[in-house]
Amino acid sequence: MSTRDFNEHSITDAVVERFADTPDPRLKQIMQALVRHAHAFVREVDMSQDEWIKAIGFLTRTGHITDDKRQEFILLSDTLGISMLVDAINHRMPEGATETTVLGPFYVQNPPLKPADADISGGEHGVPLYVTATIAAPDGMPLAGAHVDVWQSDEDGFYDVQKPGDDPNLRARFTADQNGKVSFWTIVPKFYPIPADGPVGDMLKATDRHPYRPAHIHFMIDHEGYETLVTHLFIEGDPYLDSDAVFGVKQSLIVSLEDGAGAPPAAANKPSGTIWKRLDHNFGLKPAL
Ligand code: BEZ
Ligand code: FE
Repeated sequence: MSTRDFNEHSITDAVVERFADTPDPRLKQIMQALVRHAHAFVREVDMSQDEWIKAIGFLTRTGHITDDKRQEFILLSDTLGISMLVDAINHRMPEGATETTVLGPFYVQNPPLKPADADISGGEHGVPLYVTATIAAPDGMPLAGAHVDVWQSDEDGFYDVQKPGDDPNLRARFTADQNGKVSFWTIVPKFYPIPADGPVGDMLKATDRHPYRPAHIHFMIDHEGYETLVTHLFIEGDPYLDSDAVFGVKQSLIVSLEDGAGAPPAAANKPSGTIWKRLDHNFGLKPAL
């Protein structure tokens, strides 16, 4: 192959060839496919110089706004559906195992460990919600001792880490009991916008897309011998279930809240007469290979 005078037709093969000696075969495969697909994209849209400079500017702003608290590249991957595509490819679940969805940027490692029936709402306004969940293997065997991390936004759509102050709120870790069960009080979650004041928000605006995620509670569930499950439970009836800004909704993860009947269970701080909801759910973990 000639090593100079590349034109719009010959340049792709020349660049692919330049990676031919990559020692790691997987890296070689990825780099060569990246070049082929990126060149095909540029050809397909007949990219102008001006547009390419704009694209570089967009990525530069995405880098500049990213720090240890804000990860705009992940948000970009989420809003382009790439996070969910990678998730789907890597989590083909057997019967009886709960489906996965995006982690999102608001997970905090080692959240406060709370006892069964703890109230994680920290006094936030909202309709009280009593959650009970069982953690089991796909064959139904309860997974005692599983760690269950939960986190969610407040009624205004903000996570604790987005607000001033360091107190963890609406997040906790529970340990499943002998029957694989955890239970806690929280508040009914509400839909909220993903951070939209940066380049990803500009992209959503320019393309007439909204930034909302349907109401959900996040779960990360961990037990030795099983794959860590990262998922959410979405609330039936939410107006954004069919247009989640990050494509994270799966039918099997949509749950209905039941009206709480009678006095709230295990809730000394909920006066009788309180209107409350309940959610019962079974999670299945996939055995690790
Ligand atoms: C979240 O649900 O916390 C989330 C997920 C992806 C992007 C932004 C937020
Ligand atoms: Fe979330």
